[in-house]
Amino acid sequence: MSDFIVIKNRIKNFNRKIEVSGDKSISIRWVLLSSLADGISISKNLLMSEDVMAAINAIKKLGIKVKFKKNYCKIYGQGIDGYKYKKNIIIDAQNSGTLGRLILGLLVNTPYPIKLIGDKSLSRRDFKRVTEPLSKFGAKFSLKKKKFLPLTLFGSQNLKPIYYNENRGSAQCKSSVIFAGMRTNGETTIKAKKSRNHTELLSKYLKLPINTKLKNTFDIIKINKVKKINKLNYNIPSDISSCAFFIVLTTLATKSKLIIRNVNINSSRIGVITILNKMGANIKFKNIKKYKGEKIADIIVKSPKELRCINCPEYLNSAAIDEFLIIFLVAAKAKGISYFKNLNELNQKESPRLKWGEKILKKIGIKTVSTSNTIKIYGNPNLKINKKIIIKKYLKDHRVFMTSMIAALSFGGNWEIHDKSSIKTSFPQFINIINKFKKDV
Ligand code: S3P
Repeated sequence: MSDFIVIKNRIKNFNRKIEVSGDKSISIRWVLLSSLADGISISKNLLMSEDVMAAINAIKKLGIKVKFKKNYCKIYGQGIDGYKYKKNIIIDAQNSGTLGRLILGLLVNTPYPIKLIGDKSLSRRDFKRVTEPLSKFGAKFSLKKKKFLPLTLFGSQNLKPIYYNENRGSAQCKSSVIFAGMRTNGETTIKAKKSRNHTELLSKYLKLPINTKLKNTFDIIKINKVKKINKLNYNIPSDISSCAFFIVLTTLATKSKLIIRNVNINSSRIGVITILNKMGANIKFKNIKKYKGEKIADIIVKSPKELRCINCPEYLNSAAIDEFLIIFLVAAKAKGISYFKNLNELNQKESPRLKWGEKILKKIGIKTVSTSNTIKIYGNPNLKINKKIIIKKYLKDHRVFMTSMIAALSFGGNWEIHDKSSIKTSFPQFINIINKFKKDV
């Protein structure tokens, strides 16, 4: 079967209300924490994607029962010490850095070695960034070339609390250490550069022994050993990172309007909104409410008359880390030269995304100047494409695929975009939702 999509027509004016699937970060955290809870946890709107299914399969390997009903998922938690460890367990994190890194934290006390594997993309990503701090607790690891998957974890029954300075702004590293801290007697302290804080919010909601002090550019998090996790029913809000594609589609369109209901607008995730609004976009939140420590709202987007360039403040990088590819498309149409800096982490994702962002821009005729961690984008407010563009060989990164589709639908041209199945990792509904927009044309 062909795994590419051909796009020849732009999407013009539209006025739509859409619903977007559940947040990936929260879905994975819910699966992991529920697997260690006392009793049955139920979630609605759990993201049904390959990354989340990899998390479900991982807890099943550890002896946890999971059931899916029409629109909810039930996890039969066996308590904090309820994993059934066996010899020769292999956990396949597939494409998911979040699962691979977070679950290692929960498994630091395994009595038998556990092997962690992943797909081609995950196997080129740095795992030393988590095995290093987890080793300080007392766990041991053997990694391919000291840095990569496959790795084997040798747990310890004699874990010691650590002090950890997380200075990349990586929520995956922070969360992995929080989870290991929950397994360890004594107090673990993390000084963490700001990054998404779903683990802390969920833990606080569950009344786990975790304490966070918010400073300007970092947080101090203290964690003690967890004795019990209460079961957790959760109605998972929509994922702002998935919404971002439609927000940009509307921002690049003319005379269009979009409403997206019930989206997680946690301040550590909405860098994309702040950046786009600074560039002249018209994105507003309505019906803001609190849900289990998280902030939820409806998002209303209207096409702006004009877009302007941005010198993107570095402090927004972490809160927009998954959205830079799509933000670059807005910079491509903005008046002036946009500048994004200190984006080292972007090349650590499912594919080297700074490189791929630049490749897409070059293919659509936009001038760029880049270094290993910065990019200047020379915007063209009259950008229209008339040529054939082929996107392939990008390590099947879902966000490269979806960004290319939005570029095709916004700027025109004749596109052939490969590895359509990559969207299954984070957003299987993406093309179905896009097709709804086409009906308006
Ligand atoms: C995630 C954290 C981010 C993000 C990823 C999901 C998470 O990665 O890019 O898509 O759920 O913790 P880093 O923590 O490595 O920046």
